Amino acid sequence: MAKESKKMKAEGVPLYTVPGLTPEQAAEIAAVLQDRLNALTDLHLTLKHVHWNVVGPHFVAVHEMLDPQVDAVREMADTTAERIATLGLSPYGTPGALVADRSWDDYSIGRAGAIEHLGALDLVYSGVIQDHRRAVEAVGELDPITEDMLIAQSAQLEQYHWFVRAHLETSGGQLSTAGASSEVQARSQARAGAKRKTA
Ligand SMILES: [Fe+2]
Repeated sequence: MAKESKKMKAEGVPLYTVPGLTPEQAAEIAAVLQDRLNALTDLHLTLKHVHWNVVGPHFVAVHEMLDPQVDAVREMADTTAERIATLGLSPYGTPGALVADRSWDDYSIGRAGAIEHLGALDLVYSGVIQDHRRAVEAVGELDPITEDMLIAQSAQLEQYHWFVRAHLETSGGQLSTAGASSEVQARSQARAGAKRKTA
């Protein structure tokens, strides 16, 4: 039993999987899903971090807007982890595994104004959603069940992204964060954009 478990982890190929897929296909899908699990866990923790650190005149609006997003993204992480388990593999949900595996940096902003955090969150959501789309493409041929799950998550994430971006948009449809390539840059562009609006 111990040997089999060790082998499964080392090779990443399960001993069984759902009917209609090979264990090798399941391993390929699970690898994509593990990265999405990391991203979703990171996202709901980051959203809660912002919920705690947002300050300024729009505190209540943003503080309260974020909690339903935290809950929904946490549910997405749960569904994703359980899909990995359903495929016959082991989802890794510990903080150490997440930090070791992820290809992105930790959220970089502590206590800051609402519009500054929203500017940074625009970039955070952009990254997660782009990677989710790539994951949809990667699993689509092999497994429409997993594809369907990721598509549903993407639709919800895009709506939350819109909630964030609506704060950064002018009536002419321009985003204050346009062209920003880092959270710090997005934060300062969002702050400058808000000043222009009130000037
Ligand atoms: Fe709270």
